[in-house]
Amino acid sequence: MTKIGVFDSGVGGLWILKNLQDELPGYDYIFFGDQGHVPYGSRSIEEIRSFSEAITNFLINKGCNIIVIACNTASAASLKYLRDKFPKILFVGMEPAIKPAVEITNTKKVGVLATPATFQGELYNSVVERFAHDVEIFKDTCPGLVKKIEDGDLDSSETHLILEKALLPMIEKGVDTIVLGCTHYPFAISKMKEILGEKINVIDPTEAVVRQVSRVLEENNLANEKLLDNSGCVDIYTSSDPARMNYVLLKLFKSCFDIKRVEWGEDLKLTILDNE
Ligand code: DGL
Repeated sequence: MTKIGVFDSGVGGLWILKNLQDELPGYDYIFFGDQGHVPYGSRSIEEIRSFSEAITNFLINKGCNIIVIACNTASAASLKYLRDKFPKILFVGMEPAIKPAVEITNTKKVGVLATPATFQGELYNSVVERFAHDVEIFKDTCPGLVKKIEDGDLDSSETHLILEKALLPMIEKGVDTIVLGCTHYPFAISKMKEILGEKINVIDPTEAVVRQVSRVLEENNLANEKLLDNSGCVDIYTSSDPARMNYVLLKLFKSCFDIKRVEWGEDLKLTILDNE
């Protein structure tokens, strides 16, 4: 039985989970949002890697044989490390979608929004080296945006200001394509479009990740035959107060989930607090 693990520092990965469920409905999913540690983006690569390893162990113990790192920051810090450490597990990670951006930009100017840790990682540099040859890249870390999204606070003037600070200089430089290099940011797409207008492309990598998961399942003979039988179940875990995640889910998805709480202990051991 194929069980798909999905993790992120917080609610960003839920957008990917929702799209996975919509496109690949017959599977069992386990989602882990590390809200006790969010944001990951300003932490060291080593720290993010150790959280990712502990979460991976948790998901493997729950029976996952494929793990989607629904977080650019965790992918930048740990995708290669996790693949080496857990050779029997299939990992799908995320990298900023520079390649499709390069293919569609006319002005040859592309903006990338991602966390500081993502920009520091080797993965980002290798994507830029491989694909961004005759294109100028403008980067911004959108300080504070992940927290605003975690709080479900998209409509405030503070959130608008964070977006303006990131996007207006890019518009002035002639950027015509923006890459969302953080899985939290798709929640703010409509807010971004209010600033960017209709002519600037915004690349949300969610669809590409879902396609990649589907490909990996097929290639490894893990694809469920009864894909249209919508019988898969979804378990959601958070390392913070479940009410916090539910509040955001209600605001963002307009629906509730049954969320279990997990606690980080000594030596990064994870314990489930709710009785299962
Ligand atoms: N959602 C994450 C990403 O894709 C990270 C946000 C954070 O925790 O800083 O990069």
